[in-house]
Amino acid sequence: MTKISSTTVRDDFNDPVAVVHYARAAHFMGLWASEKVLVERHFTDLSAPLLEAGCGAGRATIGLWDAGYRNLTAFDFAGELLDQARSLAATRGADAIRFLHADATALPPDICHVLRDKPSGSPPKPSEGTCHVLRDKLFGGALFLFNGLMQIPGRENRRAALRELRRACAPGAPLLFSTHDRDQTQVERALWRLEALRWERGEQDPRLVDFGDRYFEEAGTGRTFMHLPDRAEILADLAATGWAHTFDALRKTVAAESRAVRDFSDECRFWVAHKN
Ligand SMILES: C[S@@+](CC[C@H](N)C(=O)[O-])C[C@H]1O[C@@H](n2cnc3c(N)ncnc32)[C@H](O)[C@@H]1O
Repeated sequence: MTKISSTTVRDDFNDPVAVVHYARAAHFMGLWASEKVLVERHFTDLSAPLLEAGCGAGRATIGLWDAGYRNLTAFDFAGELLDQARSLAATRGADAIRFLHADATALPPDICHVLRDKPSGSPPKPSEGTCHVLRDKLFGGALFLFNGLMQIPGRENRRAALRELRRACAPGAPLLFSTHDRDQTQVERALWRLEALRWERGEQDPRLVDFGDRYFEEAGTGRTFMHLPDRAEILADLAATGWAHTFDALRKTVAAESRAVRDFSDECRFWVAHKN
């Protein structure tokens, strides 16, 4: 049986069931209360260029726009969701948001060119392999919300995405993202101990890549790949990719969420790090 890959994940997000699910959230939900609190706390400059990874149909992107952020670049590798985001932005007067079709694990080498003022007709230089602080503008912050980073199969690939976001950001820039936490409750800890036994015996779902992975299907949402880390794993991944951890907390300790948000998304852990 073949392992889950980025192609599996992209195809699942381009599936009409998932597209309707995320488009509905983009139209009617916007930023969660907890996201608003953390965005306001850590992204204090409304005019700073921000990079949103895994924007999907634009739920958080449009939420950021509505909160006053005016220099937004958002990308996703699922073209169907990106089309939804572009069309929603157009209907909300948010055409100034730059939407890019890109994979977080291998961003375009010249991702920062969108921030440079160019005379019209002057194409980006594709040969440029990095974003230089002095020559280019860099992003003033990055976000990867609703556990998008954890939907990248393979720990090295998740680290690659963290490195790519770091490359696009200026020194000191904040990164906000969320994950599940597989140690969150006693019941979960017990279930993961059973899963650990399955891995020891080689009896895990053969499509999974790492311990902590899940692949499941829900009516109305479609198929979902999700890696559930423990706290130590994320701290190690941040340290290995040049991000200084500054904050993490379970969502319920940040803000109380509406029923609609709780139905849309399980409890999660938010993380804030800054580029070293
Ligand atoms: C749970 S959805 C969240 C969508 C949106 N941010 C929201 O909160 O509604 C995760 C998103 O991450 C995107 N994603 C996952 N892996 C990606 C990758 N390697 N590159 C770009 N986008 C990715 C998916 O296509 C999906 O749109």
